[in-house]
Amino acid sequence: MNKIKKIAVFTSGGDAPGMNAAIRAVVRSAIYYKLEVVGIMRGYEGMIEGDFIPLDSHSVCNIIHRGGTILKTARSKRFMTEEGMQEAYDQLTKTGVQGMVAIGGDGTFTGAMEFHRRHDIPIVGLPGTIDNDLFGTDFTIGYDTAINTVVQAIDKIRETADSHNRLFFIEVMGRDAGFIALRSGIAVGAEAILIPETKTHIDKLTAMLEAGWNKKKSSSIIIVAEGEHAGGAFKIAEQVQERFSQYDARVSVLGHLQRGGSPTCMDRVLASKLGVAAVEALLEGRRDVMIGQVDSKVSYTPFEKAIKHNVEINQNLLWIADILNV
Ligand code: F6P
Repeated sequence: MNKIKKIAVFTSGGDAPGMNAAIRAVVRSAIYYKLEVVGIMRGYEGMIEGDFIPLDSHSVCNIIHRGGTILKTARSKRFMTEEGMQEAYDQLTKTGVQGMVAIGGDGTFTGAMEFHRRHDIPIVGLPGTIDNDLFGTDFTIGYDTAINTVVQAIDKIRETADSHNRLFFIEVMGRDAGFIALRSGIAVGAEAILIPETKTHIDKLTAMLEAGWNKKKSSSIIIVAEGEHAGGAFKIAEQVQERFSQYDARVSVLGHLQRGGSPTCMDRVLASKLGVAAVEALLEGRRDVMIGQVDSKVSYTPFEKAIKHNVEINQNLLWIADILNV
């Protein structure tokens, strides 16, 4: 029989739509299993400072549809030090926390893994990031909402691009990964998708745009992931214009609007399902794992494997994007 009586939940790193739905699911399932639950404010920063709040069923009313995170979030430098982790551990033991659910991405799980190596409080993680760059889950919480936001924005840009016969370079988020760019790029019928996982050939890109121009194509959309290696949307636009100036080019950086908004049905359901699974995982004695979903089934992946350098871009989607750009 598992002895855990009190758990904590926190969000960390970049916020993602659906984090609130995940918090709600953790709190409600903890209550269902007769556990006490506290929320840690501002991720690892609040953990170090002992900024804990008691959570009950009522505290998570009316949040399932809200973007952002009611627990706030931060990227903590202090937690990366031995002293920071020790202070956090002291605060947690003082409050009687015996298990934790961390909601976040790569940085959050790296912190959780390091903490778990030094201290004996079990932690499990929920994949909460718009980037979808974690291994061990088909989708992360927030990704579906983000790509739908991107698609809506680009559909609008396409209309003005078409009206002016313009070429648009649109930069989307994804510091180290092209998942947002690739999927949304296919969905909007982008003429090219430039991502960190593949090499950008400016000459090839220019030749493709020139061919489109000669075929009387009235507009073109090029999606550039933030982490793409040729220097970002502005630099690429400049280089393309130097080689081929017929198109009137514009750059649009979608930025943080991709992180906000009410979560989609898919993100809410994923967050709810994984939130319940996280509490059950702690009760079953699991630790140091991310709870994800693979082929509709709950999966458990050690933090060490889940973090982003292990996840690969879907080659089939790249292939589809190429075929559809003939
Ligand atoms: O990790 C999520 C993410 O949105 C990345 O796609 C982006 O590069 C980064 O966060 C931006 O972080 P910040 O909000 O700290 O500028």
